[in-house]
Amino acid sequence: MDRTPASKIIDGKAFAAELCRRIADRVAVLRQAHGVTPGLAVVLVGENQASQVYVRNKGRQTEAAGMNSFKHALPAETGQADLLRLVARLNADPAVNGILVQLPLPKQIDPQAVIDAIDPAKDVDGFHVVNAGRLATGGAGLVPCTPLGCLMLLKDRLGDLTGLRATVIGRSNIVGKPMAALLLGENCTVTVAHSRTRDLAAEARRADILIAAVGRPEMVRGDWIRDGATVIDVGINRFEGGDGKARLVGDVAFAEAVERAGAITPVPGGVGPMTIACLLQNTLTATCRQRGIDLPGGAEAT
Ligand SMILES: NC(=O)c1ccc[n+]([C@@H]2O[C@H](COP(=O)([O-])OP(=O)(O)OC[C@H]3O[C@@H](n4cnc5c(N)ncnc54)[C@H](OP(=O)(O)O)[C@@H]3O)[C@@H](O)[C@H]2O)c1
Repeated sequence: MDRTPASKIIDGKAFAAELCRRIADRVAVLRQAHGVTPGLAVVLVGENQASQVYVRNKGRQTEAAGMNSFKHALPAETGQADLLRLVARLNADPAVNGILVQLPLPKQIDPQAVIDAIDPAKDVDGFHVVNAGRLATGGAGLVPCTPLGCLMLLKDRLGDLTGLRATVIGRSNIVGKPMAALLLGENCTVTVAHSRTRDLAAEARRADILIAAVGRPEMVRGDWIRDGATVIDVGINRFEGGDGKARLVGDVAFAEAVERAGAITPVPGGVGPMTIACLLQNTLTATCRQRGIDLPGGAEAT
């Protein structure tokens, strides 16, 4: 029987559902007061099965929030020039407020060239160098969805993060680096660990907030967790158990970590659902900025 106290679990699924509901309310206000409906274009190249599922879910949730969803599915052999032409068209289309090109892309296309081509004002993934630069320098840009979702969960659980020690394991441009910048912005003392870190367990043990964004099943063990720490597990790993059945596990050995952690996100049902909710949040933010409209719900909604 699972004896985990429910109070330790950070329920990202419930938080994301509530966030999506609030976004839908704000979209309705925007439409009523300004006649504006946010539009999100999602571009999928090829037939990667996981990407197809993500894109379908994104489209469904965009519409559920009352936004327009534009899907562009291109064949796997699409050339880079054709994709860049589509991005240019979407950049110029006033009905499109957010553009997301689903990664990974087929190998004939350089993902950086595509990210660079997206108008930073419509870059709802927050991957464009202008948005990365704004995040690094404390400006108002669009923030990558997964770390933004992690920060929302942390602030909801802990309130003010000032002075807390945070360790982020992973330094990707998509998760680790923007997560570290966000935590620094909240006045945490931040350590970024990676594959060359000398004593990873010791760096983790120092942390009041531990973020694992690695992509290695259950790498973070229970004795890496400081008593009472808040643990955010970003990892999504397909793992084959002894019974031959595949299941999803995080980067943290949950059963061990939950014994020591004060609070922890499960996998699935933790960070994952926050990513799409934050994509919708970014689309709403981008729309308001493009139109010079105050965000319905005020600064609290950013
Ligand atoms: N929940 C979501 O919505 C969501 C969204 C995005 C990603 N994810 C998941 O989050 C995980 C990380 O994603 P990502 O895109 O950031 O991955 P990534 O680009 O592969 O980066 C992984 C990072 O982990 C570090 N690393 C790898 N092995 C390590 C080790 N043994 N010890 C310490 N650090 C190690 C790497 O260090 P180096 O830089 O030194 O190589 C790298 O910085 C994946 O499981 C991914 O599926 C989930």
